[in-house]
Amino acid sequence: MIALTVAQVARLTGGSVVAPAGVDPAAVVVDGPVVTDSREAGPGGLFVARVGEHADGHDFVAAAVERGAVAALVDRPVDGVLCIVVADTQEAFAELARGVVAALPALAVIGITGSSGKTSTKDLLGTVLAVSGPTVAPVGSYNSEVGVPLTVCRVTADTRFLVVEMGARGVGHIAYLARMAPPRIGVVLNVGTAHVGEFGSREAIARAKSELVAALPGDGVAVLNADDPAVRAMATATAARVVLVGEAADADVRAGDVVLDRAGRPSFTVHLGGTTRTVQLRLVGGHHVGNALAVVAVATELGMSLEDVCAALESAVPVSRWRMEVTDRADGVTLVNDAYNANPDSMRAALAALERMGEGRRTWAVLGTMLELGDESEALHAEVGAEAVARGVDELLVVGSPAAPLAAGARTAAGARAAADPASGDGPPPGRTRVREVADADAAAALLRDELRAGDVVLFKSSRDAGLRLLGDRLAGPTEDLT
Ligand SMILES: Nc1ncnc2c1ncn2[C@@H]1O[C@H](COP(=O)(O)OP(=O)(O)O)[C@@H](O)[C@H]1O
Ligand SMILES: [Mg+2]
Repeated sequence: MIALTVAQVARLTGGSVVAPAGVDPAAVVVDGPVVTDSREAGPGGLFVARVGEHADGHDFVAAAVERGAVAALVDRPVDGVLCIVVADTQEAFAELARGVVAALPALAVIGITGSSGKTSTKDLLGTVLAVSGPTVAPVGSYNSEVGVPLTVCRVTADTRFLVVEMGARGVGHIAYLARMAPPRIGVVLNVGTAHVGEFGSREAIARAKSELVAALPGDGVAVLNADDPAVRAMATATAARVVLVGEAADADVRAGDVVLDRAGRPSFTVHLGGTTRTVQLRLVGGHHVGNALAVVAVATELGMSLEDVCAALESAVPVSRWRMEVTDRADGVTLVNDAYNANPDSMRAALAALERMGEGRRTWAVLGTMLELGDESEALHAEVGAEAVARGVDELLVVGSPAAPLAAGARTAAGARAAADPASGDGPPPGRTRVREVADADAAAALLRDELRAGDVVLFKSSRDAGLRLLGDRLAGPTEDLT
């Protein structure tokens, strides 16, 4: 973090200092990591004691101090520790973040939201902006009321760009995050169905995402996906200048000639203000085109040349794990581990990439449940099953009973397809997807171990299913011998 004395932190957070005898809070400087997890504490750091559902951070203050934290932000004093005592550590943490951003007027803060692709775009933008200057865009998915202040508190005096992922599970959440880390540039990627169970409706999701652009100042920039009507409509919700990105003819940053190569990696032409440049990404999946366009819009707004931005995009490799992570095994099996999370939109994006990668090869989709879809869950699972069939998946493995509607949707679609277009000649019959259900990742592992053969392409995808994630890892590991 930027160097602040404990007395300054207390002023920013409205807290009072409780100091052990002889310790002067105006002389103790916080310039190390600001953490909520004591295991991540380090010299010069500040420990924020949150009271969560499962644990009370106050129990870990001593452990954080042992690792070098010089003070703790708490709601009750802890003996022998230099404490900043506040009424609510969450609110105080938000105020601290706000104070840090305010202390750095030259810092460019970029907020990113959307139903899918926040982390991927944050990573991509972080990679590109780092070419231009010191950038904070932490690996992983720090997009909550805790993740955002943790991200902000990573900046140092020389940081020029701060890329903040902003997630929402309800109306008002992004407005709150934007108060902690007021962005000058805001990116809205898409409005999908992620968390529709919690929001209640897509309209509520759109309203929540629009809070980001509503928070932008008049001299700010709203980067909006021109191809998503719900995002495009947010142009009226902001005082900032609007930059449209997408394949739409009127997009300010426009992609044309989008093609996926045999490895599922997109290439496209970027058009920006009369200049054109072709880009070949190393990332897998057509959905990265939209993410990359948003990066072009932001990075050129921040002074980078189109050429520099595109060169950096072309060198970018996956940063955060389990997002379309491809492993080509020596035995000719290709694994695509996209099991970090799943919603209907990202399922579709992944299946489209699998279709391309699987041309002339046997494809497997090992799919688990998508969480937090509320009343629409069953229908949305069935749609994804139908999509797998439409994308010509050969072997569909549905993992876990909550995902059963996905298997049912696939069976219905496969039956309809076979009936509409009966097999003829010697090619594989249409609607040939074989649908099987297994109880869990271990059962999937056993089946794959028996049946995978050279040339197969296997996609793993589910919502926060650590079992499936690890299965993908295990099969990708050097010790796994499946032949
Ligand atoms: N623009 C996009 N549209 C649809 N799916 C996407 C997009 N960008 C990434 N994805 C996919 O969505 C899933 C989540 O990606 P991630 O970047 O972690 O998003 P988030 O942080 O919004 O949850 C991954 O499977 C990823 O491959
Ligand atoms: Mg994320």
